[in-house]
Amino acid sequence: MIKRILSGLILTSIFMAISCSTPQVIDDSLKREQYDGKQLFKSRCLSCHLLTPPKTKQEAATMLAPPVIAIMYHVKEGTGAELEMMSRKYAIDFIMDYVRNPTREKALCSGHAIENFGLMPSMKETVTAEELNAIANYLYDNFPPKDFDHDKMERKQHKQ
Ligand code: HEC
Repeated sequence: MIKRILSGLILTSIFMAISCSTPQVIDDSLKREQYDGKQLFKSRCLSCHLLTPPKTKQEAATMLAPPVIAIMYHVKEGTGAELEMMSRKYAIDFIMDYVRNPTREKALCSGHAIENFGLMPSMKETVTAEELNAIANYLYDNFPPKDFDHDKMERKQHKQ
């Protein structure tokens, strides 16, 4: 009798463990997909921003915005003393604000990005704060790579 109760209990707890953990796993993977900065960048930003410098003249001629590698170089490098102090939080806050409220005054890339491409359109209505946070962290963690030579890229583009 006790054996039967015990095995019943064990079965019940195994069943509960399975049924409780399953929905959690699904939630987690959904969340990961929803806030995967790389994927979100691809779907929201890549249509205008290449990740790396253009490889061909044709690619350079059809660019709609500066490549991310150059943007992140400016975001991290900064141009004045104030910007050299830029921390991760400052960079993330800058990206999150700029994408939703871009203005000429805020832009860190030198004026020619706006002259060449026009001001970036606001994405206030199309990207949520959570999505943008994941994108900004992805950009901060991956760009520019250590061996990126910004001046070389500029020289190459001006020759083209
Ligand atoms: C419709 C085209 C377009 C899309 C889509 C777009 N951008 Fe831009 N973005 C631009 C253009 C054009 C510029 C350059 C002019 C400027 O700085 O406003 C720019 C500039 C920027 C800058 C640099 C601002 C500076 O300091 O000069 C950041 C950061 C940026 N974009 C982030 C993003 C992110 C993140 C996404 C995706 C959520 C995104 N952009 C999607 C067109 C776009």
